[in-house]
Amino acid sequence: MNPDIQSREDIQTLVDVFYSRAIKDDTIGYFFTDTMQLSLEEHLPRIYDFWESILFHKSLYKGNVMLKHIELNRLAKISDQQIDHWLFLWEQSVDQLFQGEFAAEAKHRASLMTQLMKFKLSQSSELGFIQ
Ligand code: HEM
Repeated sequence: MNPDIQSREDIQTLVDVFYSRAIKDDTIGYFFTDTMQLSLEEHLPRIYDFWESILFHKSLYKGNVMLKHIELNRLAKISDQQIDHWLFLWEQSVDQLFQGEFAAEAKHRASLMTQLMKFKLSQSSELGFIQ
């Protein structure tokens, strides 16, 4: 039986496993390597902050996650299927490593954000959209 997510170190482990998959993934990998050419050293700590803020109610993440993806979607279109696949990789990473209340919350909150993201991206393609 896997342990639950209990600390920032656990979040780091989870996010690192997820990103190692996402970056190599045939369906969504190119967003991280070609569209954005991310420096993981800079990017990953923001993702750790993001999940620590959500799961442990800290106020570490100060960005605007939806706006970031609206901008990304303008550079290279993100489809609903790709968002579903992102969620699949996230759930797979959580399940591989963790089990319990926080693990369930990590999957639930990600699922809600994928729904919001699909809606925001479709809205942002409409004329006159204001974030
Ligand atoms: C197909 C789906 C997705 C793709 C391809 C994707 C890709 C990316 C990329 C390339 C960035 C870097 C953007 C930049 O630095 O300008 C990014 C940032 C980020 N993504 Fe995603 N993402 C997806 C879905 C999601 C979802 C559903 C969430 C939330 C649960 C999420 C959370 C984040 C966060 C927190 C950041 C950091 C934003 C910041 O720097 O403030 N992503 N994503």
